[in-house]
Amino acid sequence: MNPERGKFISVEGGEGAGKSTLLGGLRKAIERHGVAVVQTREPGGTALGERVRGLVLDPALRGIDAQAELLLMFASRAQLLREVIRPALDAGHWVLCDRFTDASYAYQGGGRGQPTAFIADLERWVCTGLQPDLTLLLDVPVAVGRGRVAARGGVDRIEVEADAFFERVRATYRDRAAAEPQRFRVLDASQPPAAVLQAAADAVLALGGACAT
Ligand code: TMP
Repeated sequence: MNPERGKFISVEGGEGAGKSTLLGGLRKAIERHGVAVVQTREPGGTALGERVRGLVLDPALRGIDAQAELLLMFASRAQLLREVIRPALDAGHWVLCDRFTDASYAYQGGGRGQPTAFIADLERWVCTGLQPDLTLLLDVPVAVGRGRVAARGGVDRIEVEADAFFERVRATYRDRAAAEPQRFRVLDASQPPAAVLQAAADAVLALGGACAT
């Protein structure tokens, strides 16, 4: 059997954009249309990746070098691609990924100032041309997102950065979306969650391959 390759969807956004809320609903919406979904996340999604996640988000490790941070993100990504994403797509499943390479451009590039060319080299090496078919960018003003994170509590090593860092992250995401409008769908994440989910589900189901009901 040679099933049609599955679709690869990533969900991106700044802190407090509402990715987690959206992902659960989106997964159910896709499954309702008869498609098997593999939901995963970055950094994380494998035994190695989850350990990397523990390291990069640990508030006790304040001194992680920006290059080391970037390489850790790509180490997690390499393992996730090998263990989860490529096999799932090859089996015809759809992959719903909470962040992917755009996050490295936004956080390590925009946020930390690592050169875009180096990130692009790592992307070529690790991802070998594999990109999401669709990237949903949950765009929200920094103050709104940070307000949600503060209300939730338990701030991690990256969430403690200054507003200026998150403004650069947001600007980088928006620039990338503007440069690749065919891949990105920008959603206004200050809307109520139900409205964001509806817009996201419409964009995902428009990819085709799901049986419309
Ligand atoms: P999240 O699960 O709340 O999105 O947390 C993941 C954090 O890791 C978030 O602050 C963004 C950050 N991150 C990067 O800095 N670079 C990356 O490449 C990825 C995937 C995530």
